[in-house]
Amino acid sequence: MATTTSKQTLFLSLLLSLFLLNSAISETQILLQFKTSIEDPMNVLSSWSNTTSIHHCNWTGITCSKKNEGPLFVSSITLQSFNLSGEISPSICNLVNLSHLNLADNIFNQPIPLHLSQCESLVTLNLSNNLIWGTIPEQISLFKSLEVVDFSRNHIEGKIPETIGLLNQLKVFNFGSNLISGGVQGYFGNFTELLVLDLSHNPFLVSEIPAEIGEMSKLEMLFLQSSNFYGELVPNFFKGLKSLKFLDLSQNNLTGNLPEINLLLPNLISFDVSENQISGFFPSGICEAQSVASLSLHTNLFNGSISNDLINKCRNIEKFEVQNNGFNGNFPSLVWSLPKIKLIRAENNMFSGEIPDTISEAAQLEHVQIDNNSFSSVFPVGLGKIRTLYRFSASLNGLYGELPHNFCDSPLMSIINLSHNFLSGKIPEVRKCRKLVSLSLANNSFIGKIPESLADLPVLTYLDLSQNNLTGSIPQELEKLKLALFNVSYNQLSGRVPSSLISGLPASFLQGNPKLCGPGLPNSCFDENPISKSSSFAKFTCALVFIALAFVLFVFAFGFYLIRSHKRKCESSVWKSVFFYPLRVTEHDLIIAMDEKASRGFGGNFGRVYVVNLPSGELVSVKKIVNFVGQSSKTLKNEVKTLAKIRHKNIVKILGFCHSDESIFLIYEYLPKGSLGDFLAKTGFDFPWNVRLKIAIGIAQGLAYLHKDYIPHLLHRNLKSNNVLLDDDFQPKLTDFGLDRIVGENAFQSIVASESAASCYMAPEYGHTKKATEQNDTYSFGVVLLELITGRQAEENESGEPSVDVVKWVRRNINITNGALKVLDPKISSFSQKQMVEALEIGLRCTSVVPEKRPSMCEVVRELQSLYSETSLQDGSFEV
Ligand SMILES: *[C@@H]1O[C@H](CO)[C@@H](O)[C@H](O)[C@H]1NC(C)=O
Ligand SMILES: *[C@@H]1O[C@H](CO)[C@@H](O)[C@H](O)[C@H]1NC(C)=O
Ligand SMILES: *[C@@H]1O[C@H](CO)[C@@H](O)[C@H](O)[C@H]1NC(C)=O
Ligand SMILES: *[C@@H]1O[C@H](CO)[C@@H](O)[C@H](O)[C@H]1NC(C)=O
Ligand SMILES: *[C@@H]1O[C@H](CO)[C@@H](O)[C@H](O)[C@H]1NC(C)=O
Ligand SMILES: *[C@@H]1O[C@H](CO)[C@@H](O)[C@H](O)[C@H]1NC(C)=O
Ligand SMILES: *[C@@H]1O[C@H](CO)[C@@H](O)[C@H](O)[C@H]1NC(C)=O
Ligand SMILES: *[C@@H]1O[C@H](CO)[C@@H](O)[C@H](O)[C@H]1NC(C)=O
Ligand SMILES: *[C@@H]1O[C@H](CO)[C@@H](O)[C@H](O)[C@H]1NC(C)=O
Ligand SMILES: *[C@@H]1O[C@H](CO)[C@@H](O)[C@H](O)[C@H]1NC(C)=O
Repeated sequence: MATTTSKQTLFLSLLLSLFLLNSAISETQILLQFKTSIEDPMNVLSSWSNTTSIHHCNWTGITCSKKNEGPLFVSSITLQSFNLSGEISPSICNLVNLSHLNLADNIFNQPIPLHLSQCESLVTLNLSNNLIWGTIPEQISLFKSLEVVDFSRNHIEGKIPETIGLLNQLKVFNFGSNLISGGVQGYFGNFTELLVLDLSHNPFLVSEIPAEIGEMSKLEMLFLQSSNFYGELVPNFFKGLKSLKFLDLSQNNLTGNLPEINLLLPNLISFDVSENQISGFFPSGICEAQSVASLSLHTNLFNGSISNDLINKCRNIEKFEVQNNGFNGNFPSLVWSLPKIKLIRAENNMFSGEIPDTISEAAQLEHVQIDNNSFSSVFPVGLGKIRTLYRFSASLNGLYGELPHNFCDSPLMSIINLSHNFLSGKIPEVRKCRKLVSLSLANNSFIGKIPESLADLPVLTYLDLSQNNLTGSIPQELEKLKLALFNVSYNQLSGRVPSSLISGLPASFLQGNPKLCGPGLPNSCFDENPISKSSSFAKFTCALVFIALAFVLFVFAFGFYLIRSHKRKCESSVWKSVFFYPLRVTEHDLIIAMDEKASRGFGGNFGRVYVVNLPSGELVSVKKIVNFVGQSSKTLKNEVKTLAKIRHKNIVKILGFCHSDESIFLIYEYLPKGSLGDFLAKTGFDFPWNVRLKIAIGIAQGLAYLHKDYIPHLLHRNLKSNNVLLDDDFQPKLTDFGLDRIVGENAFQSIVASESAASCYMAPEYGHTKKATEQNDTYSFGVVLLELITGRQAEENESGEPSVDVVKWVRRNINITNGALKVLDPKISSFSQKQMVEALEIGLRCTSVVPEKRPSMCEVVRELQSLYSETSLQDGSFEV
């Protein structure tokens, strides 16, 4: 008997384990079946295979759970951002315990997959950011168990069906950024569990805000912005929203007054009703919630004043935005010293009052905009003590008195606008705000000289000092700056205008200074007389420099001779070579070849480039670099190897190198067409737009590869159109990359510095930071892109006039004419204008003076490619 029992038990447990095994197999099969209908271009589902030994619970995106001692089962599938498409097969519902399915950020292109309602355990369904289209079917109510539904960022259209109200388990309802139309009244009464409601960015909705939303006592986030909601909020709308933390009703058509908020929203963190037509008074109860960090009422019809008593409770506010309303009375002075405040915007109101010196207590303040009010105040010394401030803009007010010496001391300060006030006295010297981009002090009563220290601010781009009482001359040093706007009109300035500040500027920016002189101005300068003192002094200096140069040349030539004769003696012993490509050439051949008159040598920074005809008949280019620091053979080999291993269609191949203690020869593949710079320099540069765009994309891809894909990540550091070679198909290839690794950082910097004090390909901040960054490369790329768009060389001499770099030239023209069309290369048909303007916008961002604003090269590639796909659709006919 006992044995029978144990046999039975054995049998049963065998059966059970078979069953378990079986259930495991079937989950595997279910997943494999699901996979068969999915298109997986990135092959991320490669682990989903019955040929591997990996347990399906360990496959990509699968999470298994188990209950107590029960078997493992698939509980969650997360396949996010994998470019998946195809069909979401209902077979997945055979996983009876699947509770979370997240296929967000893919490219599934189909209606709402209703059949997933068969998944009986499904709690979360996230299909955000796909290409789901069609209407929400009435049968949506079949998803009885769903708690979280996220269909945001798709193309779902039509009305929300009434049956949605049956989903009374919902905690998250997100249909934001779709094309839903109609009204939404009356359907949400059953959503008592809701935590998140998002119907934002549905431009075809036309609805009042349903009153029942106000009764969702668990709701924490309500996002209805930018969806055409109109009308007034019901009087006690906020009464039931006891858990509300984030409210965004901005960019709608709401009218009327805000309902009372007193003590009602204890957990509120962010409150945004901006860009509506809401009127009445500041919502006084808002600050009862001590947790409020962000308050945005801007661009409405609020009026009345805001008292300090109210603000006193909002001690945690970080963002205070009340601009573009009709607020009046004294600005609540406590706002200026809130301990966490970062952003204050109150422009375009009728606020009065002072900016108190206690503003220094707002130690995290970053951004202040109070233009166009009636503030009547001195510029407080306390403001200069805030280390985080990057923008202070208070034009069109009644600020008076002298500017304190620390007015621009914040190391982050980028924008100061104090125009149209009553400031007086001298403009203090500015030294500490090395990031200042824009300074406007126009229309005040400043006297004295233009501070020379302005010329030392490396990224200063917009300078407006017009309509003051400034005297003296315009400091010559300002020529150093890449100014896009320079306005000193209507002052009492005198003397010679530095020539580069005249060329390319409209005369009106200098007008109203009768004592200024220079070419193009009503007065020519007295000292233009050729026998003037300064000119003969200049001649004398020239002669001295000439003699000194001749001496240096002599010494150099002599030294060179010595080196060469020494080298010739022990050629074979000193030279070492490493080839990464089967080159049948000896060092000896190379040196002989480069000696020959026949080999073309042309300049370039870091050394000359020679085209060498190898004995095999093959052509290679050889760049000869001085081995400044006498890099050791081992270091050199490692560094060159790193560069030579790069294989990308937009990067010139390094075939090998040889070196002695004095020189390094880098051997590159030879591209007979030459460089983009050569083409740009020709007068008839006439590449059609699609070819230019293709070149820009290629360059961007090459850089993006160096920055992000190649290991180790590299910087080019020397991008210019002369370093972009073109192959027979006009495919660009970057050369001269990573030379810093070969010559060493110090030598690299001194060569760059000696080349020209401010090469116009070099990002402005590089001059003072000397730090190599991706953003430097992006800037250089932007310059090349502007060359392609304008057809101008980066630095172009307009007959006789001083050179203007293309970035300056573009910025100035855009500023003046208020239209980008003027800077586009006129040789390209107007057919391509739209795209050129878009490319121009990219070029301007890449050459932003603020490095953080420049896009990454990967972003640039993406944006240019999307332009290119338009081009090829429009005019496939153009070919070179
Ligand atoms: C693996 O799956 C494929 C298709 O699902 C099936 O044809 C094949 O027989 C399976 N192989 C094994 C070893 O289970
Ligand atoms: C999944 O992989 C981990 C780590 O490799 C392993 O410890 C675990 O046992 C695997 N799970 C299953 C169900 O095979
Ligand atoms: C993913 O899809 C995007 C958009 O369709 C495409 O640009 C990208 O190249 C795809 N990535 C891969 C790896 O297929
Ligand atoms: C899995 O689903 C089945 C069928 O719905 C159910 O009977 C079982 O209890 C579930 N198991 C777990 C652990 O939830
Ligand atoms: C759905 O997935 C997206 C993309 O990852 C994510 O941002 C979003 O928070 C998810 N939705 C929910 C409700 O978790
Ligand atoms: C709320 O749910 C009940 C029962 O589930 C249903 O009868 C009613 O129609 C629902 N109300 C709305 C507004 O959908
Ligand atoms: C507000 O309503 C007016 C007319 O009623 C309409 O012209 C306007 O586009 C609406 N604005 C928004 C943001 O919905
Ligand atoms: C303030 O707004 C209210 C409501 O829109 C209006 O009745 C009142 O006249 C306004 N007050 C002022 C001084 O403009
Ligand atoms: C100044 O603000 C008023 C409203 O207070 C507005 O009407 C006016 O256009 C603004 N002026 C400027 C120059 O923005
Ligand atoms: C400039 O100074 C003159 C006299 O020195 C004075 O008459 C004039 O009002 C001043 N202009 C401004 C804008 O301060």
